[in-house]
Amino acid sequence: MTKPILSLENLYVDFERDGVISSVLDNVSLSVNAGEYISIIGHSGCGKSTLLNVVAGLVPLTLGAALLENKEITGPGPDRAVVFQNHSLLPWMTVYENVRLAVDKLYGGKETLSQLNERVMTVLDLVKMTHAAQKRPGEISGGMKQRVGIARALAMEPKVLLLDEPFGALDALTRGHLQDTVMALHSRIKATVLMITHDVDEAVLLADRVVMMTNGPKATIGKIVDVKCPRPRSRLTAFNDPEFVRCRAEIVSFLQANDVAAPVPA
Ligand SMILES: Nc1ncnc2c1ncn2[C@@H]1O[C@H](COP(=O)(O)OP(=O)(O)OP(=O)(O)O)[C@@H](O)[C@H]1O
Ligand SMILES: [Mg+2]
Repeated sequence: MTKPILSLENLYVDFERDGVISSVLDNVSLSVNAGEYISIIGHSGCGKSTLLNVVAGLVPLTLGAALLENKEITGPGPDRAVVFQNHSLLPWMTVYENVRLAVDKLYGGKETLSQLNERVMTVLDLVKMTHAAQKRPGEISGGMKQRVGIARALAMEPKVLLLDEPFGALDALTRGHLQDTVMALHSRIKATVLMITHDVDEAVLLADRVVMMTNGPKATIGKIVDVKCPRPRSRLTAFNDPEFVRCRAEIVSFLQANDVAAPVPA
C-alpha cells in the first residue's frame, strides 16, 4: 500500500509588492505518495516554481496547508533537497568538495571522516561522476555540473527531491542521458520526486502522474494525467507506446487550450 508523504491542502500564495497583492496560487490541492514521481507542467510564469518553493520551505503560503509526513512545512529542511535549473556549484571548490560541503553540514561531527568520505563517493558513483571528483565546475560540462547538483541533493538523503527544470539548460543528447540517470536513480532509491519541466515528452517519460497547471494569476491544478506505461521505461521505445501517445496528446491539448497567446479556433 502506498501512503501519502506530501499533502498540499487548499493552498493559496499571494505576493505583495509596493502594496499591491498578486495572487499566484489559488486553491491548489495535491497528495503525493511515497516513491511517486510527479511532473509539473504549465505555461511560463503560472506559478510552478512558487509551488515547488512552498514545498522546499522557501516561500511561505498565504492560506491552506503544506504537510510533509503530516507535519506542517515551516521552512527548509534536509528532508527536502532542491536542484535548480542553473547549476549552483561553488566554482572554487572541486566536485568532491562541493558535495562534501553538503555532507559535512548534515553529518559532520556525527560520523567519522571515512564515513563522510564514503557518503560523497557513493552519490558521485550513483551519478557516474567519480572520475571527475577532483575537477572544478569550470572544467566540466553543463550536464556533468547538473549530475553533481543531483549528487549533492541525493547526499542529503532527502525524503522528497525537488527538481526545478533540472535539464532545461542542456542540449537534447545530454538531457536524454540525464533523464535515464534520474529514471535509474528513482527506481533504485525509491525517492519521491517533484519535477518541473516545460518538455511534454520528458514529463510523461519520467512521471507516474503529470500535474498540469492553469495559467496565472490565480493558477491552480487544471488536470492530472496518470501515466500507466510500465517501468523500466526506455526513451527509444516509449514514443511508440499507445499509453505514452495518449498521455502526450492529453497534455499538449491542455497546454494549447490554456495558451493565452495562441489564437482560439472558431
Ligand atoms: N518573490 C516573489 N515576489 C513577487 N512575485 C513573485 C515572486 N516569486 C514569483 N513571483 C511571481 O509569481 C508568478 C509565478 O512565478 P513562478 O516563478 O512560480 O512561475 P513559473 O511557473 O515557475 O515560471 P517559469 O516557467 O517561467 O519558470 C510570476 O508572475 C512571478 O512574477
Ligand atoms: Mg519556474
